[in-house]
Amino acid sequence: MSYAQQYPRESELPTTGVALNHTAVYASDRYLSAEFLAVILGLTVGAPFGPFLPVDLGNGVTLDYCEKRDGPIQSQHYAFLVPDEQFDAVIARLEAVGITYYADPGHADPGRINDLFGGRGAYFDDPDGHNMEVMTRPYARP
Ligand SMILES: [Fe+2]
Repeated sequence: MSYAQQYPRESELPTTGVALNHTAVYASDRYLSAEFLAVILGLTVGAPFGPFLPVDLGNGVTLDYCEKRDGPIQSQHYAFLVPDEQFDAVIARLEAVGITYYADPGHADPGRINDLFGGRGAYFDDPDGHNMEVMTRPYARP
């Protein structure tokens, strides 16, 4: 079955507004990076889709890991809002695999979490240096 023949489920179609559906995440090794994020966030890596290796975030958004080998990978920032209990699990997994997390986006405060916006948050690097953030409360924007 071709991609064009795979119609979306009605429940996945937006009824209002604009929803982020997917974005590409560059990686030097898409399997390594997708598996890394999936393990840390408690998700699963989907089947390859052409050059993409998807990690479904469970909210209608998919991160499509794809490989870039023609030059350095520009570090991007990805922030994930998670329930409180999942945040604890994420921190535990980071500690279990020896990945340093930080309270701040500049990575100046290692081994600590923040309490921004009445929640908890932390930052960590993925294998290509993408600055990943987990947080339990969204930014309070003016
Ligand atoms: Fe952020």
